[in-house]
Amino acid sequence: MTPSPDDRYEPPSSFVDQANVSDPGIYEEFERSWPDCWERAADLLDWHEEYDRVLDEGDAPFYEWFSGGKLNASYNCLDRHIEAGRKTHAALKWEGKRRETRTYTYQDLYGEVNEFAAALRELGVGTDDIVTIYLPMVPELPIAMLACARIGAPHSVVFAGFSADALATRMDASDSEYLVTCDGYYRRGNAFNQKSKADNALMTLDRSVTTVVVDRLGEDLDHSLDTDQYDYGDLVLAHAGATVSPVARDAEDMLFLMYTSGTTGQPKGVTHSTGGYLAQAAWTARAVLDIKPEDTYWCSADIGWITGHSYTVYGPLALGTTTVIYEGTPDYPDRSRLWEIVERNAVDVLYTAPTAVRAFMKWGEEYPAGHDLSSLRLLGTVGEPINPRAWKWFREHIGGGDCPVVDTWWQTETGGMMITTLPGIGTMKPGSAGPPLPGIGARVVDEDGAEIDPGETGYLVVDRPWPGMFRTLYGDDERYRSEYWDAFSTDDEWVYFSGDGATVDSEGYITVLGRIDDVINVSGHRLGTMEIESAIVGVEGVAEAAVVGGDGGTNDTAVYAYVSTDHHHDPNEELRERITANVERAIGPFARPEQVVFTPELPKTRSGKIMRRLLENIANHEPLGDTSTLRNPEVVGEIEATERDQ
Ligand code: PRX
Repeated sequence: MTPSPDDRYEPPSSFVDQANVSDPGIYEEFERSWPDCWERAADLLDWHEEYDRVLDEGDAPFYEWFSGGKLNASYNCLDRHIEAGRKTHAALKWEGKRRETRTYTYQDLYGEVNEFAAALRELGVGTDDIVTIYLPMVPELPIAMLACARIGAPHSVVFAGFSADALATRMDASDSEYLVTCDGYYRRGNAFNQKSKADNALMTLDRSVTTVVVDRLGEDLDHSLDTDQYDYGDLVLAHAGATVSPVARDAEDMLFLMYTSGTTGQPKGVTHSTGGYLAQAAWTARAVLDIKPEDTYWCSADIGWITGHSYTVYGPLALGTTTVIYEGTPDYPDRSRLWEIVERNAVDVLYTAPTAVRAFMKWGEEYPAGHDLSSLRLLGTVGEPINPRAWKWFREHIGGGDCPVVDTWWQTETGGMMITTLPGIGTMKPGSAGPPLPGIGARVVDEDGAEIDPGETGYLVVDRPWPGMFRTLYGDDERYRSEYWDAFSTDDEWVYFSGDGATVDSEGYITVLGRIDDVINVSGHRLGTMEIESAIVGVEGVAEAAVVGGDGGTNDTAVYAYVSTDHHHDPNEELRERITANVERAIGPFARPEQVVFTPELPKTRSGKIMRRLLENIANHEPLGDTSTLRNPEVVGEIEATERDQ
């Protein structure tokens, strides 16, 4: 996984010559003028009122950026491009699962966002009311987000693959009284009912929720509307031609909330600001993804996760480009689907996940080879480490052998990219994300917070605030402090801990190795092992469970669950099915364990703590090291034998 020092690639001069950012002096300039350097990001936005200060550290770690400034995100993503004479430019190109396509110009998008904003207002949504959005990849998803932003109502998008229970937990935790969902969507060609999941969630909430339902499937799925449920199409029609003036928000006002998994069973409501978040999303979309207004740009991530928020919706639209939204999966109806979309839309920049690249690689180069991908100028990845072989394959077979590839490290909490090479400047080293972006204080330290020597392994921290940083965890300032700031901060300095392990080389290139806490990354989905464990121990017959990330083949991670039963139950197929069903019910099918391994006991330390690390080694076929400190070393052999037999 670690990069070889001789493996270096330079961006071609044809790229550098046209790059948005190509002056290497930017690193020094940002150092010299920090934090004022971030004005360059703020300058990419239109402000209703100028800010007084770039950074306010008075209440650290509750930092404020661009205090006193006022702006509106929907105005920045729509109105100003129209005012600049670009109303007929394509804003959004949608590729549906059944090969339907829809293009929205900036004027079209502006029109529908305004109409839906007017409808939301009429339904009672006020400034600061949190609107939950539970939609698959349909145009109404970004439209609903921008409509919320327009009226100053923070949105909380819940990935459509989450279960009813997970939706209810998130709505409950955020006190959300509004929901935008749909009747259903197509899954591998079949109609799948989303509304029944939403209805089940609503039944468990002890407050009334006003719901808007997008009719995605038409006659392919009947649905009815209960009291307080409204049809999206009817609402938009009833407000045809309406305009809503964008609400001027304080830079620090919440733009959105995004739940993510942490090390406890309770998901964390990561809150993002309007000014700092949008500034960093736009700045990195411009500097790293090299987005130009005339580009067609495609980020293949689902908008239900942070990548889609920052780099399908807010960053690209703030820059006035054309952003592609694809509803389907890469292999349906066939394995050429993505390349067909790139070719037909002449996509300039493609941003995707390493897990997707590894799948393309496995399927073989004949699929991309059948398409003209010469429009591509730049490739990017995010979400997990990309192994050098996949990186090179991506550059060679998708990027035509000369596209720069940016491996971008960041998190839901960081809001925008933090570590990567700048494609118009930096040498790329496959397997390493690169140096911290200009102005970003990312470092790799040992457990005492001292910088480690090149080649050693340590903890990835950030020792300076950044504009796109989350501001707190919704309703839980204490957890914000304790989970992110307590581990490495000192009396003199606040230090953010990312939860990742990393190494650094002699040129300051950081290779992120992955989570060192109890969070696992499965196909780009961040899952808390505690969340899955609590779903498993909720199954009758289960005594104890431990979940770790294990070998999912071709460098991917899969969910492995180690389970012991109580003495009334035998470990059998029926129990295994109940376990998987409960995980799907509590979280969603994407969290389903690939392996459920029954064991008479879980390996424990003498003080009774489950040795997850040991299970992780077993699940990854790695050497176990010394097991003599275990209270019950004999179970290790039994677990290994059971797993071999499965
Ligand atoms: O472990 C790191 C991994 O993804 C985690 C963040 O997950 P999430 O909040 O869901 O956001 C994903 C998209 C921004 C990180 O803590 N990660 C993200 N990017 C990389 C990465 N690991 C290695 N290399 C990356 N480029």
